[in-house]
Amino acid sequence: MSKRSVFLIATITLGFLLAAGAQGRAQQTPPPAAPAPEYKIPADEASKANPVKPTPESIERGKTIFGYDCSACHGKSGDGKGDVPIDSKHDFTDPDSLKKFTDGELAYIIRVGKGLMPAEGNRGKPDDIWHIVNYVRSLAKKDAMPAK
Ligand code: HEC
Repeated sequence: MSKRSVFLIATITLGFLLAAGAQGRAQQTPPPAAPAPEYKIPADEASKANPVKPTPESIERGKTIFGYDCSACHGKSGDGKGDVPIDSKHDFTDPDSLKKFTDGELAYIIRVGKGLMPAEGNRGKPDDIWHIVNYVRSLAKKDAMPAK
């Protein structure tokens, strides 16, 4: 065999191996994940008016519950910097973060949960969810009171 044909065979073999390798890797990439089911808030929930005025007492009550049930994930000031890493878009101290939600939608999300967020359910008094909504809304204001 001439030097030239040894070189040719080596080149072809190498090319083959590289191509096979690339294909092997391509096959290992997992198929794209199925799209998550859409999170739908019923219209009658979304349009529900907040029956509780955001008085200092209501916000104080919401703050107490937030400190127990929410701050581990959402951070004491609601900025999303709790012990559980959370997407920076959930920064409640940013006035834009909750603007797109009605009070009814926030109450629904808090009561029912969303994705990795657990449901608050009806464990408190009936108005507690609305106190939490009032508190979460207050976090974007200058005189926000961080939870303890
Ligand atoms: C275990 C961590 C965890 C706890 C506890 C938790 N949350 Fe969440 N929360 C999340 C995550 C994660 C999301 C994002 C959900 C998604 O979009 O899939 C979220 C989303 C939200 C949203 C919607 C924000 C948006 O832009 O979609 C609100 C409002 C909210 N949480 C408020 C609360 C309140 C109030 C409490 C306490 C009653 C609470 N959360 C407790 C993890 C948590």
